[in-house]
Amino acid sequence: MRKIALLSTLMLFVIAFEYCSKKDTTAAETNTVPQPSLPATPYDYVRSYPAYLQTTMAQDDNTPANNQLTNDGATLGRVLFYDKHLSKNNTISCGSCHKPSSSFTDPDQFSKGFEGGLTARNSMPLLNVRFYKSGKMFWDERSPTLEHQVLQPIQNHVEMGLTISELVSKVSALNYYPALFQKAFGSSTIDSVRISKALAQFVRSVVTYQSKYDLVKQGLATFTAAEQTGEQLFLNATPPPPAPQTTCAGCHKPPFFLTSSPAAGFGLPDAADSGINNTGNFKSSSLRNIALTAPYFHNGTVASLQALLSTANVPAHRVAPQDVQNIIAFLQTLTDQATVADPRFADPF
Ligand code: HEC
Ligand code: HEC
Repeated sequence: MRKIALLSTLMLFVIAFEYCSKKDTTAAETNTVPQPSLPATPYDYVRSYPAYLQTTMAQDDNTPANNQLTNDGATLGRVLFYDKHLSKNNTISCGSCHKPSSSFTDPDQFSKGFEGGLTARNSMPLLNVRFYKSGKMFWDERSPTLEHQVLQPIQNHVEMGLTISELVSKVSALNYYPALFQKAFGSSTIDSVRISKALAQFVRSVVTYQSKYDLVKQGLATFTAAEQTGEQLFLNATPPPPAPQTTCAGCHKPPFFLTSSPAAGFGLPDAADSGINNTGNFKSSSLRNIALTAPYFHNGTVASLQALLSTANVPAHRVAPQDVQNIIAFLQTLTDQATVADPRFADPF
């Protein structure tokens, strides 16, 4: 009898202790979790762009009918993009490998994941992603859509290391999300489809249109002689055979310097990586802001634009020595510092 009494007292003690310690962690968590700082009225992510861009924008937009960009959707996407709770040990966010200061890519050849492991390829700059017409994502185009792509790094064992159900329960446990989902989707339900839609909206909202190149195309500035010569070479010159007889513009089409149907396939030769459907070809992302996104190519093995245009082992990209500086001068006119520094795209934590 005494034994039973002792045992039940002990059990009560254990239950009470568990209850208290649970309460304590919850309280501690809400006190210490950083809250995103957001403007009272959401930023404008739905913008009007210069007229000369609009034909391309209309033709090449990969936004699906069921995920149109809204200011509240992109605001939620921005918070998710920079939230380290989207990784297993709360150390890595999308923004860790897609840094605004590096034009939404990583200055390192390979990026560190949540446990310090390295990615197999160079990170990709996330701008003008919306205008890759086919919508296929990654260097090897293995994701059919952006909505599909944005959940892959979260589940990747090197990058963020969560399962979808862990993702949903972690996001659901954070006190700032219900109101953000309510605004973005009309109810506070949190699920992986909504998480993917919001992340995709944020990524699509990053569009560069405020470079010197854009000013020139609107008649608001003029190219220097070197930039002008560089543009002509970019549009009209073909490399010496046996490289594909295609101009730079045939594969990097203005005005976003991006096309999902290049005039010819290309990939930097790489024994370790067979690219799109094992063809040895790779995707190229937008060349806008290219001066900010070194190192280059899918494996990040080319350190500078100078090396990219003048090294013998880079096929289809080597140009005559006297043309190198002019092409670089032209490529530098694609730099849009306003977008890189824009608070709409900055880390809110
Ligand atoms: C640990 C670093 C790392 C993290 C974290 C990370 N990425 Fe990436 N991202 C990469 C690398 C590396 C690639 C290229 C991988 C490949 O092609 O196999 C990439 C490619 C992409 C692409 C493809 C772009 C294109 O034009 O095809 C998108 C979009 C993208 N990431 C978005 C995200 C989002 C959204 C998150 C957060 C949910 C995220 N990334 C988290 C490193 C990272
Ligand atoms: C036949 C198509 C093709 C032609 C022609 C071509 N490119 Fe590329 N370019 C690509 C592809 C595809 C990649 C990415 C390949 C890889 O990573 O393996 C790329 C990569 C690049 C990169 C690095 C992009 C990054 O994000 O790392 C730059 C810069 C570049 N090209 C500029 C040029 C210039 C300048 C010319 C003309 C001299 C040119 N390209 C001609 C297809 C082409």
